[in-house]
Amino acid sequence: MSAVVIVGAQWGDEGKGKIVDIYMESAEVVTRYAGGPNAGHTLVVGDEKLIVRLLPSGILRPGTLCVMAQGMVVDPTVLIGEIDELHRRGHKDIESRLLLSDRAHLILPYHIQIDTLRESTAKESEAIGTTKKGIGPCYEDKVRRTGVRAGELRDLSQLQKRIATTLKAWEPTILALGGEVPTAESMIEYLKPLAARLVPLLGDSSKATNDAILQGKRVMLEGAQGTLLDVDHGTYPFVTSSSAVAGGAAIGAGIGPNRISSVLGITKAYTTRVGGGPFPTELEDEQGKHLRDVGDEYGSVTRRPRRCGWLDIPGLRYAARVNGIDGLAFTKLDVLTGMKTLKVCVAYDTPQGRVEDLPIDLLDDPSQAIPVYEELEGWTEDLSEVRVLDQLPLAARNYVRFVEEKSGVPMYLVSVGPSRAATITLHNPFVGRAGTP
Ligand code: GDP
Ligand code: IMO
Ligand code: MG
Repeated sequence: MSAVVIVGAQWGDEGKGKIVDIYMESAEVVTRYAGGPNAGHTLVVGDEKLIVRLLPSGILRPGTLCVMAQGMVVDPTVLIGEIDELHRRGHKDIESRLLLSDRAHLILPYHIQIDTLRESTAKESEAIGTTKKGIGPCYEDKVRRTGVRAGELRDLSQLQKRIATTLKAWEPTILALGGEVPTAESMIEYLKPLAARLVPLLGDSSKATNDAILQGKRVMLEGAQGTLLDVDHGTYPFVTSSSAVAGGAAIGAGIGPNRISSVLGITKAYTTRVGGGPFPTELEDEQGKHLRDVGDEYGSVTRRPRRCGWLDIPGLRYAARVNGIDGLAFTKLDVLTGMKTLKVCVAYDTPQGRVEDLPIDLLDDPSQAIPVYEELEGWTEDLSEVRVLDQLPLAARNYVRFVEEKSGVPMYLVSVGPSRAATITLHNPFVGRAGTP
C-alpha cells in the first residue's frame, strides 16, 4: 500500500506544487485534502508555468486521476476558470480525470463578501491578512452546519431553500459589517451555469481514494497551506481555517490513518510568510529584501510581497512532530547563493530558559521568545544546474547536512530551481532510493 502525504512544514508556499508534480511521475492518483483557492501551487514544466489553486498539482501528468476531496472548500467560478485555462493550453482531457467530492463545501459570493468586509474593517493589528477568497466564512458555515455542499448542485430548487436559511444566519453579520445581503434567487442564478459544468464531475472522493490505495495504486495526498497555518497547530489566530497538517489528510480525504504510508514535509531553505502574525526569524532589512527579490517572494494568488527570514529549526522540529514527517524536500537552496554568511535559528531563549522546541504559545510576544542563531558559511556558485548532492559546493552541502542533523529528519530531495529538472532526488517515497524501484 502506498499513500504519501505532502505537507507544508512552514507558513505555506514552500514549493509543494513542484514537489507533488515531481513525485507524480511515480504515482497514479493525487487527492488534494484541504484548503481552497487561498492556495497557489506553482508548476513549471518546460516552458509552461501554471499556478493551480484548486486543481491537484498532478494535473500536468497525463493519465493521472485528480481528486478534490471533501476537506476542501471549492469556489465554483475559480474551478471552472482553472479547467478552461487548461483547455486553452491544449489539455483537453481534464474533466475525464477529475473527481470533485460531492461533500466538499462551496465558497459562495457571500463568503467572499464577508471575508473582504472583515479584513477591510479590522484594526491593522487584528487583521489576519487573509487572501479574501472566502475561506474562513465557508469553513464557519461548515462547522455551523449551514454550509452548501457540492452535491447540492444536483437540485437547485431545493438548494435555493437551503441558501435562504443560510443567508438568514449570516444577515446580522453582513449588516453589521455594512454590507448588503444577497438574495437566494440571485445565488441560484449565479450557480445555474456553473452547476451544469460541475455536476458531471461529482463523486465519492473517499471511495475513489481508498479504492485506489487498496488496488495497489500509488496515491499522493496533497496538502495546502502549511503546518504553522493549521487551525489547531498553527500560530492561532493568524492561521487559515482548515486542517493543513498530515492528520488532516485522513479526515479531508476520507481514509483511515492506517492507509497512509509516509509523510513528506516541504520546507524552503529559509522562511517566508504572507499575511499577519508572528515570525520570529523575519528579516526586515536589506537581507530580507534580497531574499524577496532573488526568491521572487510574491504571493502566487495575491502577489502580496512575502515576509522573508532565516530558517527556523525549532519550527521544523515542531512540524516534524505534529505531522510525523518521514523525510524533507528542501526547496529554493539556489536562492541563498551569494549570501556571505547564513544564519539558522537553532533554539529560543524564553523566560523558562533556552529551549529547542518551538515555543509556539510565546511567539506573540517577541520579548518572550528570542531566536538563537548559528552562523554558517555561504557560497557564491550558481546551483541551478546541479543534479547530484556531491556536486554542490561544500558550503551548500554543509548547510543541507546541518539542517538534516538539527531537524532530525532525512533529506529526500533538494530543489535548486523552479523547474522539474532543477532537482536533486535522494529518495522517492513511492519507490525507495532514487532510481531503485
Ligand atoms: P506552494 O504553495 O507550496 O506550492 O508554493 P508556491 O508555488 O506558492 O511558491 C513557491 C515558488 O517558488 C514558486 O514560484 C515556485 O516556482 C518556486 N520554486 C519552487 N522550488 C524552487 C526552487 O528550488 N528554487 C527557486 N528559485 N524557486 C522555486
Ligand atoms: P499555499 O497552499 C501562504 C495565509 C494568508 C493568511 C492566512 C489566512 O499556496 O501554500 P485565508 O485566506 O486562508 O483565510 O488566510 O493564511 N495563507 C497562505 N499563505 N500560502 C498559502 O497556501 C496560504 N493560504 C492561506 O496569507 O495569512
Ligand atoms: Mg502557494
